[in-house]
Amino acid sequence: MGRRLHPVKMTAKTVMTAIRAGGAQSSPTKSSKVHGRAPGSRGWAGRGGGAAALVPAVREYRGTTVQVCGLWPFSSGTSSPMVGVPLGRHEETQATVCCDPISWFQRAHLISNPSAFILGKPGLGKSTLVRRMMLGLSGQGVHPLVLGDLKGEHVDAVRAIGGQVIELGRGRGYLNILDPGQAIEVAQLLEERGHHEAAVRVRADAHGRRLNMVVSLITISRNSPPTDQEQTILDRALRVLDDRFDGVPVLKDLLDVITGAPDELRQVALDRGNMTVYLQETRALEATLLGLTGGGKLGEIFSRQTTNPMSRDRAVVFDVSSIDETETDLQAAVLLACWSYGFGTVNVANALADAGLEPRRNYFVVLDELWRALRAGKGMVDRVDALTRLNRSVGVGQVMISHTMSDLLALPAEEDRMKARGFVERSGMVICGGLPASEMPLLTAAIPLSRQEQQKLISWQDPPAWDSRGGDVEPPGRGKFLIKVGGRPGIPVQIGLTSIEASLNDTNKRWHAPAESLLEATAPVQEEGAA
Ligand SMILES: Nc1ncnc2c1ncn2[C@@H]1O[C@H](COP(=O)(O)OP(=O)(O)O)[C@@H](O)[C@H]1O
Ligand SMILES: [Mg+2]
Repeated sequence: MGRRLHPVKMTAKTVMTAIRAGGAQSSPTKSSKVHGRAPGSRGWAGRGGGAAALVPAVREYRGTTVQVCGLWPFSSGTSSPMVGVPLGRHEETQATVCCDPISWFQRAHLISNPSAFILGKPGLGKSTLVRRMMLGLSGQGVHPLVLGDLKGEHVDAVRAIGGQVIELGRGRGYLNILDPGQAIEVAQLLEERGHHEAAVRVRADAHGRRLNMVVSLITISRNSPPTDQEQTILDRALRVLDDRFDGVPVLKDLLDVITGAPDELRQVALDRGNMTVYLQETRALEATLLGLTGGGKLGEIFSRQTTNPMSRDRAVVFDVSSIDETETDLQAAVLLACWSYGFGTVNVANALADAGLEPRRNYFVVLDELWRALRAGKGMVDRVDALTRLNRSVGVGQVMISHTMSDLLALPAEEDRMKARGFVERSGMVICGGLPASEMPLLTAAIPLSRQEQQKLISWQDPPAWDSRGGDVEPPGRGKFLIKVGGRPGIPVQIGLTSIEASLNDTNKRWHAPAESLLEATAPVQEEGAA
């Protein structure tokens, strides 16, 4: 370019004249010359032209439309919503991504129900992501409830935000599954204030939950659910217990009611006045309950009075990390018991708020390691389903965490598999971390993923690079997640941890000295670069 311009000494002024002269010529034979005189993308070429050798990247700023409206035409919108807990940056545009099920449901109206399902290979940061949401939501006045922390990884975070830590385990703490929680007192209070219907509902819910828990424990300990008749007997026995028992009963008292053979039970056992038939019908049930009360394979955790009742007005974590990894049945039972107890408490709080007797509280319920509960036996999916049908009511967000779809679909019974897939399909949003390629057909059956999105998820599960120095090499997919809402394109986000979170996150705690003060973590967390 500019071959013709070389002999002439150019100044900006002469160039302008040349252009004007060229511009006036409309003949097609001259147009190439005109073309030669136009400035390139970096300015005028040649000496004195002032072309820039280097075009510096423009600094980007984020602001509200009110602040940046005068900057037209350089402002542009971002694709990711700015409502919710700041999670990190968009993997491609570097824009801040904010997301949590409660804000996206309540304030942004982006999802149809306040729930999320998180999938991803272990160690890629699922629990860390949820912890970020917990900390952020707790700053907005929502109480996080971690119902069963198998690794003890959320305990520090909950403590740091002034929450309650309830320890459960053999010899550490007990959770009486027949304890109606605060339901009885609350029902009475509602009755006194004239809310009869609400009181009836609270009582019915407490009864249903206790029955559900007893059935669950029996399911786990037998590896198959109790028969219909046994469930009827249990249901009736619980009612008898409620009528006749003073104070809070434990499993042993339920067993006593069944062995006592009161008339109500003999009726539903259809023994037609023949005691031997009754004994036959209840024999298996008695045997299982005896196992549950006598420290059998599920230990005595559920058969003694509750040691540490749960509060309604702050964050709560059930620390069940003392239960050994190999005791899969006990882990499943404890998780279910925590979920049941936690959801029961939320229900009571909602009833009180509906009646105007307490301020409305919002909760963020975390069900981590869902697959551990589901694999504990046939019928467990039903139990979880029954427990978690709560989030349609106001103000309760819920997040379920599992590894892969194949975990969910490895269940032996077809109806269980269908229902487990339903957990994913019904969630308001699905957040995926790195996943193996074999997962994709299963995953795309539940949520639509484009080929690029699938490739991204597969690349995030690659192992870290070899490093002969044995340094702390991060897997490439750690902290990276794709947020999917229905058929919309996913939002890839990279979560950046703050220094305070990094200390709350330390999974290698036993290797270092303990952190000095976690209370400092209550200071507001400022994410680097986030507006
Ligand atoms: N965004 C992140 N940046 C840096 N480290 C992270 C990030 N997310 C998670 N980690 C680290 O990765 C490890 C595993 O995270 P974790 O949340 O327990 O994974 P998962 O629950 O998926 O098994 C933890 O030591 C955690 O500190
Ligand atoms: Mg985890």
